Amino acid sequence: MESKELKIIKILPEDNHKLLEIGLQTFYNSFGPPHNSEQNIQSYLNKNFTLEKITNEILHPESQFFFVICNNQIIGYIKFNSGVAQTEIVQGKSLEIERIYIIKSYQGQGIGQYLFDYAKQMANEKALEFIWLGVWDKNTRAIQFYERNGFKIFDKHTFMLGSEKQTDVMMKCFL
Ligand SMILES: CC(C)(COP(=O)(O)OP(=O)(O)OC[C@H]1O[C@@H](n2cnc3c(N)ncnc32)[C@H](O)[C@@H]1OP(=O)(O)O)[C@@H](O)C(=O)NCCC(=O)NCCS
Repeated sequence: MESKELKIIKILPEDNHKLLEIGLQTFYNSFGPPHNSEQNIQSYLNKNFTLEKITNEILHPESQFFFVICNNQIIGYIKFNSGVAQTEIVQGKSLEIERIYIIKSYQGQGIGQYLFDYAKQMANEKALEFIWLGVWDKNTRAIQFYERNGFKIFDKHTFMLGSEKQTDVMMKCFL
């Protein structure tokens, strides 16, 4: 894929419906059946992917969302947190990638890399020390993607998907 076809654009509050749509679609396709039960995934989505919650997340002053667009189609998105928006207390000047999702038909074509390079550039411009994230320990392809980008596991935490307790590994990449 030619990089000139791709655009990254900042998500604004009025984009909330579009963000909700791609957020639901990509989360369900990545972690729905057969990876998890329909009941657990629906319970998670009903709680975490509501229009109100997504809108509040866009409005948070220390969070930023971006769409990646190919030929006018939204094909993925990324969410960054800094300062108090980060989902864990970490020591040092850091940026969290809370979400990075590419729609299925565009995965494996370098789009995730394009978004990650953008994250790295942003973090470097802010003179941060590292980027970190949490990832389900069974999401081996994503873990491979992060390892290839220099991330290393530094901790783990528990994550509830509906009624199921899962483990997220926390990974960081120094800049
Ligand atoms: C993880 C993800 C963001 C990577 O983006 P991508 O555009 O698919 O990845 P790239 O094309 O830039 O890089 C390819 C590498 O990513 C990894 N990878 C992860 N998921 C992949 C997938 N579904 N298809 C192909 N490669 C994938 C592989 O290591 C691959 O390297 P390889 O070709 O040598 O096997 C994307 O696959 C995705 O959205 N996956 C589903 C949601 C998800 O797991 N998000 C992360 C939650 S923490």
